[in-house]
Amino acid sequence: MDAKAVSRARAEVSARGLALLRLPNVDAEALEKLAEDLHEPESGQRLRRKGNAAKTTPARVGPRREGAVKGHARVRRLGNVPGALFCRTGAEWHADGLGRWTALACIKAPSNGGGDTLFAWSHEMLERLRPETRAIADDLVCRFGDRFVSGSTSTSAEDARHGFRMNALGTRILRNAETRSSPRDPTRGFSIPLVRNEGTSLTVDMRHFEHFEGMDVNESRDLLEAILLEGLGVSAPPDPLQGLDPVSLFARGDHAIFDDRCVYRHRWQPGDVLVWDNDVILHSPTATAPYEGFPGSREMLQIIFRAP
Ligand SMILES: [Fe+2]
Repeated sequence: MDAKAVSRARAEVSARGLALLRLPNVDAEALEKLAEDLHEPESGQRLRRKGNAAKTTPARVGPRREGAVKGHARVRRLGNVPGALFCRTGAEWHADGLGRWTALACIKAPSNGGGDTLFAWSHEMLERLRPETRAIADDLVCRFGDRFVSGSTSTSAEDARHGFRMNALGTRILRNAETRSSPRDPTRGFSIPLVRNEGTSLTVDMRHFEHFEGMDVNESRDLLEAILLEGLGVSAPPDPLQGLDPVSLFARGDHAIFDDRCVYRHRWQPGDVLVWDNDVILHSPTATAPYEGFPGSREMLQIIFRAP
């Protein structure tokens, strides 16, 4: 992409939270380059510099991330192609990180449909809340940690494999939360207000959310779910088990009905690259069932990087 197109994209994400670019034949290297160009680091603070990456990038400790692309450790392959992280949880509303932008590129889209991604703007969600709900939300402080994270990769796919399944919105674990593991490392927890940046950001990460300060786990999850439902414009809470495979507890279909006026659904085409600001937008995958019978039909590349 030329410098003008990059700065246009950066301005669009800064203004609207989301930009759609068209990059035919995008690959891991091109995506890394895009992230680097969008980030526009000051000289001497490059995210990655060809040939001396080890000197400029802090060494990653720990296991290789599931789906990481060989030779491009910051890029992750998602979908149902070999080597990709195939996440079958269905709807799971979240942000990819505080102060982070995400670029998600479509290499292959299922020709039979499915594999859409949903987006909702935090400030619109907050504006949709009734005044009494908003007053409660403004005072909530989220406690995050690894108490409910299973496996080494801490992905929701891993959680689902262990039976720690969330409901249709990804906001409530079907198992009684109290029976789950004790904190692996209680010192690693941290607290962040649910509503940040003067009402423009919602802090939502269901994999690491433990509870609201001063409330127990199940009460906290019920409250967070109610706030998200109201913010997403869903008037009736969905049946937690509806649309889930009763054995695997994986999502089979789009059982949560989201209003188009509240939620943007992106139907991917190869060459689409969506870039978004995780402080402004929450996003969610959708059920994999529509393309599960077609292995190799969905391939995405993802990079998450520090906001410019
Ligand atoms: Fe994500």
